Amino acid sequence: MIAMPFETPRNDQPKLRLAVEGDLPSTEEDFIADIAIVGLGYVGLPTALAFHAAGMRVIGLDASPARIAAVQAGRVDLLPSDLERLSVALEDPGFTVTMDPSLIADAAAVIIAVPTPVDEYLLPDLRILRSACETVTANVRAGQLVVLTSTTYVGTTNDMLVKPLAERGFTAGRDVYVAFSPERIDPGNASHAHEDVPRVVGGVTPACTELAAEMLSRYVGTVHRVSSPEAAEMTKLLENTFRAVNIALANEFSEASRALGLDVIEVIDAASTKPYGFTRFTPGPGVGGHCIPCDPHYLLWQLRRARVDTPLIEEAMKGIANRPIHVADRAREVLSDTGKPLLGARILMLGVAYKPNVEDVRESPALEIVERLIEGGAEVDYHDRFVPAIRLPGGEAKHHVPDPAIGSYDLVVVHTRHMGTDTSLLGAAPMVLDATYSLPLAANVVRV
Ligand SMILES: NC(=O)c1ccc[n+]([C@@H]2O[C@H](COP(=O)([O-])OP(=O)(O)OC[C@H]3O[C@@H](n4cnc5c(N)ncnc54)[C@H](O)[C@@H]3O)[C@@H](O)[C@H]2O)c1
Repeated sequence: MIAMPFETPRNDQPKLRLAVEGDLPSTEEDFIADIAIVGLGYVGLPTALAFHAAGMRVIGLDASPARIAAVQAGRVDLLPSDLERLSVALEDPGFTVTMDPSLIADAAAVIIAVPTPVDEYLLPDLRILRSACETVTANVRAGQLVVLTSTTYVGTTNDMLVKPLAERGFTAGRDVYVAFSPERIDPGNASHAHEDVPRVVGGVTPACTELAAEMLSRYVGTVHRVSSPEAAEMTKLLENTFRAVNIALANEFSEASRALGLDVIEVIDAASTKPYGFTRFTPGPGVGGHCIPCDPHYLLWQLRRARVDTPLIEEAMKGIANRPIHVADRAREVLSDTGKPLLGARILMLGVAYKPNVEDVRESPALEIVERLIEGGAEVDYHDRFVPAIRLPGGEAKHHVPDPAIGSYDLVVVHTRHMGTDTSLLGAAPMVLDATYSLPLAANVVRV
Protein backbone atom coordinates (compact mmCIF):
# COMPACT_ATOMS: atom_id res chain seq x y z
CA MET A 1 0.00 0.00 0.00
CA ILE A 2 1.26 3.42 -0.87
CA ALA A 3 0.27 6.52 1.00
CA MET A 4 1.26 10.10 0.53
CA PRO A 5 -0.35 11.98 3.39
CA PHE A 6 -0.64 15.61 2.44
CA GLU A 7 -3.34 15.96 5.05
CA THR A 8 -1.72 18.77 7.02
CA PRO A 9 -3.79 21.89 6.34
CA ARG A 10 -2.08 24.95 4.91
CA ASN A 11 -0.52 27.25 7.51
CA ASP A 12 -0.29 24.42 10.04
CA GLN A 13 2.97 23.61 11.73
CA PRO A 14 5.11 21.68 9.25
CA LYS A 15 4.61 17.96 9.55
CA LEU A 16 4.48 16.17 6.30
CA ARG A 17 5.31 12.61 5.48
CA LEU A 18 5.85 10.77 2.25
CA ALA A 19 5.56 7.09 2.99
CA VAL A 20 5.80 3.97 0.91
CA GLU A 21 4.98 0.59 2.38
CA GLY A 22 4.81 -2.91 0.98
CA ASP A 23 7.48 -4.39 -1.23
CA LEU A 24 9.65 -1.28 -0.89
CA PRO A 25 11.36 -0.12 2.28
CA SER A 26 9.27 2.48 4.05
CA THR A 27 10.60 6.02 3.78
CA GLU A 28 9.59 8.68 6.21
CA GLU A 29 10.65 12.28 6.00
CA ASP A 30 9.26 15.48 7.35
CA PHE A 31 8.89 18.25 4.85
CA ILE A 32 7.89 21.81 5.50
CA ALA A 33 6.14 22.12 2.14
CA ASP A 34 4.13 19.81 -0.07
CA ILE A 35 5.18 20.84 -3.57
CA ALA A 36 8.19 22.69 -4.99
CA ILE A 37 7.75 23.85 -8.59
CA VAL A 38 10.93 24.59 -10.53
CA GLY A 39 10.12 27.13 -13.26
CA LEU A 40 7.26 29.60 -12.76
CA GLY A 41 6.36 30.22 -16.39
CA TYR A 42 3.20 29.66 -18.44
CA VAL A 43 3.07 26.08 -17.08
CA GLY A 44 4.70 26.21 -13.65
CA LEU A 45 2.88 29.22 -12.21
CA PRO A 46 -0.71 28.09 -12.94
CA THR A 47 0.26 24.62 -11.70
CA ALA A 48 1.65 26.09 -8.47
CA LEU A 49 -1.57 28.08 -8.04
CA ALA A 50 -3.76 25.04 -8.71
CA PHE A 51 -1.93 23.06 -6.01
CA HIS A 52 -2.12 26.00 -3.63
CA ALA A 53 -5.86 26.42 -4.28
CA ALA A 54 -6.20 22.69 -3.45
CA GLY A 55 -4.69 23.31 0.00
CA MET A 56 -1.07 22.44 -0.66
CA ARG A 57 1.87 24.38 0.71
CA VAL A 58 3.83 25.42 -2.33
CA ILE A 59 7.36 26.66 -2.99
CA GLY A 60 7.76 28.28 -6.41
CA LEU A 61 11.35 28.47 -7.63
CA ASP A 62 12.54 30.47 -10.61
CA ALA A 63 16.04 31.32 -11.85
CA SER A 64 15.01 34.72 -13.27
CA PRO A 65 14.94 37.71 -10.88
CA ALA A 66 12.66 39.54 -13.34
CA ARG A 67 10.18 36.68 -13.29
CA ILE A 68 10.24 36.45 -9.49
CA ALA A 69 9.61 40.20 -9.26
CA ALA A 70 6.75 40.00 -11.77
CA VAL A 71 5.13 37.10 -9.89
CA GLN A 72 5.50 38.88 -6.55
CA ALA A 73 3.96 42.03 -8.04
CA GLY A 74 1.12 40.03 -9.64
CA ARG A 75 2.11 41.43 -13.06
CA VAL A 76 1.98 38.19 -15.04
CA ASP A 77 0.15 36.91 -18.12
CA LEU A 78 -2.50 34.70 -16.54
CA LEU A 79 -6.21 34.03 -16.93
CA PRO A 80 -8.32 36.25 -14.62
CA SER A 81 -9.16 33.22 -12.45
CA ASP A 82 -5.44 32.47 -11.97
CA LEU A 83 -4.69 36.14 -11.24
CA GLU A 84 -7.24 35.93 -8.43
CA ARG A 85 -5.58 32.77 -7.14
CA LEU A 86 -2.21 34.53 -7.27
CA SER A 87 -3.41 37.48 -5.18
CA VAL A 88 -4.73 35.03 -2.56
CA ALA A 89 -1.53 32.97 -2.64
CA LEU A 90 0.75 35.98 -2.26
CA GLU A 91 -0.96 36.76 1.06
CA ASP A 92 -0.40 33.23 2.37
CA PRO A 93 2.81 32.14 4.15
CA GLY A 94 2.11 28.67 2.69
CA PHE A 95 3.01 30.02 -0.75
CA THR A 96 6.66 30.95 -1.18
CA VAL A 97 8.29 32.39 -4.29
CA THR A 98 12.06 32.12 -4.30
CA MET A 99 15.31 31.92 -6.25
CA ASP A 100 16.94 29.77 -3.59
CA PRO A 101 17.34 26.21 -4.93
CA SER A 102 18.20 24.83 -1.49
CA LEU A 103 14.46 25.13 -0.66
CA ILE A 104 13.86 22.23 -3.07
CA ALA A 105 14.87 19.96 -0.19
CA ASP A 106 11.94 21.28 1.87
CA ALA A 107 9.15 19.86 -0.30
CA ALA A 108 7.74 16.34 -0.39
CA ALA A 109 7.33 16.54 -4.16
CA VAL A 110 9.32 18.48 -6.75
CA ILE A 111 7.90 19.34 -10.17
CA ILE A 112 10.16 20.53 -12.99
CA ALA A 113 8.50 22.84 -15.56
CA VAL A 114 11.25 24.67 -17.45
CA PRO A 115 11.41 25.51 -21.17
CA THR A 116 12.53 23.03 -23.81
CA PRO A 117 13.06 25.16 -26.94
CA VAL A 118 14.78 24.38 -30.24
CA ASP A 119 17.79 26.28 -31.59
CA GLU A 120 18.02 28.12 -34.91
CA TYR A 121 18.70 24.80 -36.66
CA LEU A 122 15.51 23.37 -35.11
CA LEU A 123 17.52 21.03 -32.90
CA PRO A 124 16.52 20.50 -29.25
CA ASP A 125 18.19 23.03 -26.97
CA LEU A 126 18.45 21.07 -23.74
CA ARG A 127 20.65 23.48 -21.79
CA ILE A 128 17.88 24.91 -19.59
CA LEU A 129 16.37 21.53 -18.82
CA ARG A 130 19.77 19.97 -18.08
CA SER A 131 20.66 22.81 -15.74
CA ALA A 132 17.30 22.61 -13.91
CA CYS A 133 17.64 18.83 -13.51
CA GLU A 134 21.19 19.30 -12.16
CA THR A 135 19.87 21.82 -9.63
CA VAL A 136 17.13 19.45 -8.54
CA THR A 137 19.45 16.46 -8.37
CA ALA A 138 21.96 18.40 -6.26
CA ASN A 139 19.27 19.39 -3.75
CA VAL A 140 17.18 16.23 -3.54
CA ARG A 141 16.94 14.37 -0.29
CA ALA A 142 15.74 10.88 0.57
CA GLY A 143 12.01 10.25 0.38
CA GLN A 144 11.24 12.96 -2.16
CA LEU A 145 9.17 12.54 -5.31
CA VAL A 146 10.54 14.25 -8.45
CA VAL A 147 8.23 14.69 -11.43
CA LEU A 148 9.46 16.07 -14.75
CA THR A 149 6.74 17.83 -16.79
CA SER A 150 8.67 19.68 -19.54
CA THR A 151 8.01 18.33 -23.02
CA THR A 152 11.11 16.46 -24.17
CA TYR A 153 12.65 13.49 -26.00
CA VAL A 154 11.97 9.91 -24.94
CA GLY A 155 14.46 8.86 -22.27
CA THR A 156 15.06 12.28 -20.71
CA THR A 157 13.73 11.33 -17.27
CA ASN A 158 16.19 8.45 -17.18
CA ASP A 159 19.13 10.45 -18.62
CA MET A 160 18.69 13.65 -16.64
CA LEU A 161 17.21 12.43 -13.37
CA VAL A 162 17.44 8.69 -12.73
CA LYS A 163 21.12 8.29 -13.71
CA PRO A 164 22.45 11.46 -11.98
CA LEU A 165 20.42 10.60 -8.87
CA ALA A 166 21.97 7.12 -8.86
CA GLU A 167 25.41 8.78 -9.00
CA ARG A 168 24.45 10.64 -5.83
CA GLY A 169 23.49 7.32 -4.25
CA PHE A 170 19.70 7.63 -4.65
CA THR A 171 18.02 4.70 -6.35
CA ALA A 172 14.73 5.66 -8.01
CA GLY A 173 11.89 3.66 -6.49
CA ARG A 174 13.81 3.03 -3.28
CA ASP A 175 15.43 6.21 -1.96
CA VAL A 176 13.59 8.74 -4.12
CA TYR A 177 10.61 8.49 -6.47
CA VAL A 178 10.82 9.68 -10.06
CA ALA A 179 8.17 10.07 -12.77
CA PHE A 180 7.31 11.94 -15.95
CA SER A 181 3.94 13.64 -16.38
CA PRO A 182 3.43 15.80 -19.49
CA GLU A 183 1.76 19.17 -19.04
CA ARG A 184 -1.29 19.96 -21.18
CA ILE A 185 -2.11 23.48 -20.07
CA ASP A 186 -3.51 25.83 -22.73
CA PRO A 187 -2.56 29.37 -21.66
CA GLY A 188 -5.18 32.03 -22.36
CA ASN A 189 -7.95 29.46 -22.83
CA ALA A 190 -10.50 29.55 -20.02
CA SER A 191 -12.73 26.85 -21.47
CA HIS A 192 -10.77 23.95 -19.92
CA ALA A 193 -10.11 24.45 -16.21
CA HIS A 194 -6.70 23.20 -15.14
CA GLU A 195 -8.39 20.76 -12.75
CA ASP A 196 -10.51 19.21 -15.52
CA VAL A 197 -7.69 18.25 -17.89
CA PRO A 198 -6.55 14.67 -17.13
CA ARG A 199 -2.85 14.09 -16.42
CA VAL A 200 -0.84 11.20 -17.81
CA VAL A 201 1.87 9.82 -15.55
CA GLY A 202 4.55 7.16 -15.86
CA GLY A 203 6.96 6.38 -13.03
CA VAL A 204 10.29 4.57 -13.01
CA THR A 205 8.71 1.88 -10.79
CA PRO A 206 5.05 1.17 -9.95
CA ALA A 207 5.57 2.92 -6.60
CA CYS A 208 6.90 6.02 -8.38
CA THR A 209 3.81 6.03 -10.62
CA GLU A 210 1.45 5.67 -7.67
CA LEU A 211 3.08 8.45 -5.64
CA ALA A 212 3.10 10.80 -8.63
CA ALA A 213 -0.54 9.96 -9.40
CA GLU A 214 -1.46 10.54 -5.76
CA MET A 215 0.33 13.91 -5.77
CA LEU A 216 -1.27 15.06 -9.05
CA SER A 217 -4.73 13.95 -7.94
CA ARG A 218 -4.51 16.58 -5.19
CA TYR A 219 -5.62 19.10 -7.81
CA VAL A 220 -6.68 17.20 -10.92
CA GLY A 221 -9.76 14.99 -11.30
CA THR A 222 -8.33 12.26 -13.55
CA VAL A 223 -4.87 10.72 -13.66
CA HIS A 224 -4.05 8.18 -16.38
CA ARG A 225 -1.17 5.85 -15.52
CA VAL A 226 1.22 4.44 -18.13
CA SER A 227 3.89 1.80 -17.67
CA SER A 228 7.02 3.99 -17.78
CA PRO A 229 8.35 7.57 -17.98
CA GLU A 230 9.23 6.84 -21.63
CA ALA A 231 5.59 6.01 -22.48
CA ALA A 232 4.52 9.28 -20.84
CA GLU A 233 7.22 11.25 -22.71
CA MET A 234 6.11 9.71 -26.03
CA THR A 235 2.44 10.46 -25.22
CA LYS A 236 3.16 14.19 -25.17
CA LEU A 237 5.14 13.97 -28.40
CA LEU A 238 2.21 12.17 -30.05
CA GLU A 239 -0.31 14.78 -28.84
CA ASN A 240 1.65 17.71 -30.21
CA THR A 241 2.80 15.97 -33.39
CA PHE A 242 -0.87 15.09 -34.03
CA ARG A 243 -1.72 18.78 -33.80
CA ALA A 244 1.20 19.81 -35.99
CA VAL A 245 0.32 17.33 -38.74
CA ASN A 246 -3.35 18.30 -38.68
CA ILE A 247 -2.61 22.03 -38.75
CA ALA A 248 -0.30 21.46 -41.71
CA LEU A 249 -3.10 19.47 -43.40
CA ALA A 250 -5.64 22.24 -42.76
CA ASN A 251 -3.21 24.80 -44.24
CA GLU A 252 -2.72 22.59 -47.28
CA PHE A 253 -6.49 22.20 -47.71
CA SER A 254 -6.82 25.96 -47.58
CA GLU A 255 -4.46 26.32 -50.54
CA ALA A 256 -6.14 23.44 -52.39
CA SER A 257 -9.61 24.93 -51.81
CA ARG A 258 -8.55 28.37 -53.01
CA ALA A 259 -7.07 26.85 -56.18
CA LEU A 260 -10.40 25.08 -56.81
CA GLY A 261 -12.46 28.18 -56.06
CA LEU A 262 -13.85 26.80 -52.80
CA ASP A 263 -14.22 28.24 -49.31
CA VAL A 264 -12.13 26.01 -47.04
CA ILE A 265 -14.11 26.98 -43.93
CA GLU A 266 -17.38 25.91 -45.57
CA VAL A 267 -15.71 22.57 -46.33
CA ILE A 268 -14.26 22.17 -42.81
CA ASP A 269 -17.63 23.11 -41.24
CA ALA A 270 -19.30 20.46 -43.35
CA ALA A 271 -16.70 17.77 -42.53
CA SER A 272 -17.03 18.65 -38.84
CA THR A 273 -20.65 17.43 -38.82
CA LYS A 274 -19.28 13.87 -38.98
CA PRO A 275 -19.63 12.52 -35.45
CA TYR A 276 -16.64 10.15 -35.67
CA GLY A 277 -13.31 9.86 -37.48
CA PHE A 278 -12.84 13.61 -38.06
CA THR A 279 -11.22 16.19 -35.77
CA ARG A 280 -11.68 19.84 -36.64
CA PHE A 281 -8.50 21.84 -37.33
CA THR A 282 -8.50 25.21 -39.07
CA PRO A 283 -5.81 26.84 -41.18
CA GLY A 284 -3.98 29.90 -39.90
CA PRO A 285 -0.92 32.13 -40.26
CA GLY A 286 1.43 29.43 -38.94
CA VAL A 287 2.09 28.19 -35.42
CA GLY A 288 3.89 29.80 -32.51
CA GLY A 289 4.55 29.36 -28.82
CA HIS A 290 6.83 26.81 -27.29
CA CYS A 291 4.91 23.68 -28.23
CA ILE A 292 3.86 22.92 -31.80
CA PRO A 293 6.81 24.59 -33.60
CA CYS A 294 9.29 22.87 -31.24
CA ASP A 295 8.09 19.60 -29.74
CA PRO A 296 7.92 17.41 -32.87
CA HIS A 297 11.56 18.35 -33.53
CA TYR A 298 12.51 16.56 -30.30
CA LEU A 299 11.06 13.39 -31.80
CA LEU A 300 12.55 13.94 -35.28
CA TRP A 301 16.00 14.59 -33.79
CA GLN A 302 15.89 11.40 -31.78
CA LEU A 303 14.55 9.30 -34.65
CA ARG A 304 17.20 10.59 -37.07
CA ARG A 305 19.85 9.14 -34.77
CA ALA A 306 17.96 5.83 -34.69
CA ARG A 307 17.73 5.95 -38.55
CA VAL A 308 13.93 5.84 -38.43
CA ASP A 309 12.22 7.72 -41.28
CA THR A 310 9.11 9.77 -40.45
CA PRO A 311 8.41 11.55 -43.77
CA LEU A 312 4.89 12.58 -42.80
CA ILE A 313 6.06 14.45 -39.69
CA GLU A 314 9.07 15.92 -41.53
CA GLU A 315 6.81 17.30 -44.29
CA ALA A 316 4.27 18.66 -41.80
CA MET A 317 6.99 20.53 -39.92
CA LYS A 318 8.38 21.92 -43.18
CA GLY A 319 4.90 23.10 -44.14
CA ILE A 320 4.49 24.74 -40.75
CA ALA A 321 7.89 26.45 -40.94
CA ASN A 322 7.09 27.81 -44.41
CA ARG A 323 3.60 29.06 -43.61
CA PRO A 324 4.60 32.64 -42.62
CA ILE A 325 6.44 32.97 -45.97
CA HIS A 326 3.24 31.90 -47.69
CA VAL A 327 1.24 34.53 -45.76
CA ALA A 328 3.70 37.27 -46.79
CA ASP A 329 3.49 36.07 -50.42
CA ARG A 330 -0.30 36.22 -50.26
CA ALA A 331 -0.11 39.79 -48.92
CA ARG A 332 2.01 40.74 -51.94
CA GLU A 333 -0.49 38.99 -54.27
CA VAL A 334 -3.55 40.65 -52.70
CA LEU A 335 -1.93 44.08 -52.96
CA SER A 336 -0.95 43.40 -56.55
CA ASP A 337 -4.59 42.42 -57.37
CA THR A 338 -5.58 45.92 -56.25
CA GLY A 339 -2.87 47.47 -58.43
CA LYS A 340 -0.51 48.23 -55.57
CA PRO A 341 3.07 46.89 -55.32
CA LEU A 342 4.42 45.67 -51.98
CA LEU A 343 7.21 48.22 -52.32
CA GLY A 344 5.94 51.34 -50.56
CA ALA A 345 2.64 49.76 -49.42
CA ARG A 346 1.35 50.62 -45.93
CA ILE A 347 0.33 47.47 -44.06
CA LEU A 348 -1.25 47.06 -40.63
CA MET A 349 -0.83 43.77 -38.81
CA LEU A 350 -3.78 43.18 -36.48
CA GLY A 351 -2.57 40.98 -33.60
CA VAL A 352 0.95 39.63 -33.27
CA ALA A 353 0.70 37.27 -30.27
CA TYR A 354 1.03 33.65 -31.31
CA LYS A 355 -2.53 32.95 -30.22
CA PRO A 356 -5.54 34.84 -28.83
CA ASN A 357 -5.61 36.25 -25.30
CA VAL A 358 -1.92 35.88 -24.43
CA GLU A 359 0.97 38.30 -24.63
CA ASP A 360 3.35 35.54 -25.73
CA VAL A 361 5.14 36.20 -29.05
CA ARG A 362 7.64 33.33 -28.82
CA GLU A 363 7.92 31.78 -32.30
CA SER A 364 4.90 33.85 -33.38
CA PRO A 365 4.50 33.67 -37.18
CA ALA A 366 3.72 37.41 -37.06
CA LEU A 367 7.38 38.23 -36.46
CA GLU A 368 8.53 36.54 -39.65
CA ILE A 369 5.57 37.84 -41.67
CA VAL A 370 6.28 41.45 -40.62
CA GLU A 371 9.98 41.05 -41.36
CA ARG A 372 9.32 39.62 -44.84
CA LEU A 373 6.89 42.42 -45.67
CA ILE A 374 9.44 45.02 -44.57
CA GLU A 375 12.14 43.28 -46.62
CA GLY A 376 9.79 43.57 -49.59
CA GLY A 377 9.69 47.34 -49.11
CA ALA A 378 6.41 47.71 -47.21
CA GLU A 379 5.91 50.03 -44.27
CA VAL A 380 4.41 47.88 -41.51
CA ASP A 381 2.67 48.86 -38.25
CA TYR A 382 1.05 46.52 -35.80
CA HIS A 383 -1.81 46.79 -33.34
CA ASP A 384 -2.02 44.33 -30.41
CA ARG A 385 -3.18 45.55 -27.02
CA PHE A 386 -1.54 42.54 -25.36
CA VAL A 387 1.90 43.17 -26.87
CA PRO A 388 3.46 46.62 -26.31
CA ALA A 389 6.61 45.88 -28.34
CA ILE A 390 8.15 43.18 -30.51
CA ARG A 391 11.63 42.45 -31.79
CA LEU A 392 11.83 41.02 -35.31
CA PRO A 393 14.18 38.09 -36.04
CA GLY A 394 16.66 40.56 -37.64
CA GLY A 395 16.72 42.68 -34.47
CA GLU A 396 14.45 45.60 -35.42
CA ALA A 397 12.07 46.71 -32.64
CA LYS A 398 8.46 47.74 -33.31
CA HIS A 399 5.84 49.21 -31.02
CA HIS A 400 2.10 48.71 -30.78
CA VAL A 401 0.08 51.45 -32.48
CA PRO A 402 -2.85 52.04 -30.09
CA ASP A 403 -5.30 53.77 -32.45
CA PRO A 404 -4.42 52.98 -36.05
CA ALA A 405 -6.29 54.85 -38.77
CA ILE A 406 -7.48 51.71 -40.55
CA GLY A 407 -8.49 53.54 -43.73
CA SER A 408 -4.97 54.90 -44.18
CA TYR A 409 -3.44 51.45 -44.79
CA ASP A 410 -3.38 49.68 -48.15
CA LEU A 411 -3.80 46.31 -46.48
CA VAL A 412 -4.71 44.97 -43.04
CA VAL A 413 -3.40 41.48 -42.23
CA VAL A 414 -5.48 39.90 -39.44
CA HIS A 415 -3.09 37.61 -37.58
CA THR A 416 -4.53 37.16 -34.04
CA ARG A 417 -8.08 37.84 -32.87
CA HIS A 418 -7.99 38.47 -29.12
CA MET A 419 -11.27 38.43 -27.22
CA GLY A 420 -13.03 41.75 -27.75
CA THR A 421 -11.18 42.70 -30.96
CA ASP A 422 -13.50 45.16 -32.76
CA THR A 423 -13.55 43.84 -36.33
CA SER A 424 -16.29 46.27 -37.44
CA LEU A 425 -13.52 48.85 -37.97
CA LEU A 426 -12.15 46.66 -40.76
CA GLY A 427 -14.95 47.95 -42.98
CA ALA A 428 -12.78 51.06 -43.49
CA ALA A 429 -9.80 49.05 -44.83
CA PRO A 430 -9.30 48.94 -48.60
CA MET A 431 -8.27 45.27 -48.32
CA VAL A 432 -8.11 42.75 -45.48
CA LEU A 433 -6.12 39.51 -45.59
CA ASP A 434 -7.60 37.21 -42.96
CA ALA A 435 -5.02 34.72 -41.69
CA THR A 436 -7.34 33.65 -38.84
CA TYR A 437 -10.03 32.33 -41.21
CA SER A 438 -12.60 33.69 -38.78
CA LEU A 439 -13.93 36.83 -40.53
CA PRO A 440 -16.94 36.63 -42.80
CA LEU A 441 -15.88 36.97 -46.43
CA ALA A 442 -16.71 40.42 -47.85
CA ALA A 443 -15.81 42.56 -50.85
CA ASN A 444 -12.68 43.76 -49.03
CA VAL A 445 -11.92 40.53 -47.08
CA VAL A 446 -9.94 37.63 -48.52
CA ARG A 447 -8.32 34.67 -46.80
CA VAL A 448 -4.76 33.46 -46.92
N1 LIG B 1 3.29 27.13 -22.62
C1 LIG B 1 2.51 26.12 -22.99
O1 LIG B 1 1.43 26.30 -23.59
C2 LIG B 1 2.89 24.71 -22.66
C3 LIG B 1 1.88 23.71 -22.63
C4 LIG B 1 2.23 22.42 -22.31
C5 LIG B 1 3.57 22.10 -22.07
N2 LIG B 1 4.52 23.07 -22.14
C6 LIG B 1 5.91 22.70 -21.84
O2 LIG B 1 6.19 23.07 -20.50
C7 LIG B 1 7.56 23.47 -20.36
C8 LIG B 1 7.64 24.86 -19.76
O3 LIG B 1 7.09 25.78 -20.67
P1 LIG B 1 6.62 27.25 -20.28
O4 LIG B 1 5.79 27.73 -21.43
O5 LIG B 1 6.02 27.26 -18.90
O6 LIG B 1 8.01 28.01 -20.24
P2 LIG B 1 8.24 29.52 -19.75
O7 LIG B 1 9.36 30.04 -20.56
O8 LIG B 1 6.94 30.27 -19.75
O9 LIG B 1 8.67 29.41 -18.23
C9 LIG B 1 9.76 28.74 -17.78
C10 LIG B 1 10.28 29.39 -16.50
O10 LIG B 1 11.35 28.58 -16.02
C11 LIG B 1 12.34 29.44 -15.49
N3 LIG B 1 13.61 28.72 -15.43
C12 LIG B 1 14.48 28.44 -16.43
N4 LIG B 1 15.52 27.73 -15.95
C13 LIG B 1 15.30 27.54 -14.63
C14 LIG B 1 16.02 26.89 -13.59
N5 LIG B 1 17.17 26.25 -13.82
N6 LIG B 1 15.50 26.92 -12.35
C15 LIG B 1 14.34 27.55 -12.10
N7 LIG B 1 13.62 28.20 -13.04
C16 LIG B 1 14.09 28.18 -14.29
C17 LIG B 1 12.33 30.64 -16.43
O11 LIG B 1 12.91 31.77 -15.83
C18 LIG B 1 10.83 30.79 -16.71
O12 LIG B 1 10.22 31.70 -15.80
C19 LIG B 1 8.17 23.34 -21.76
O13 LIG B 1 8.76 22.08 -21.88
C20 LIG B 1 6.97 23.42 -22.68
O14 LIG B 1 7.18 22.76 -23.89
C21 LIG B 1 4.21 24.37 -22.39
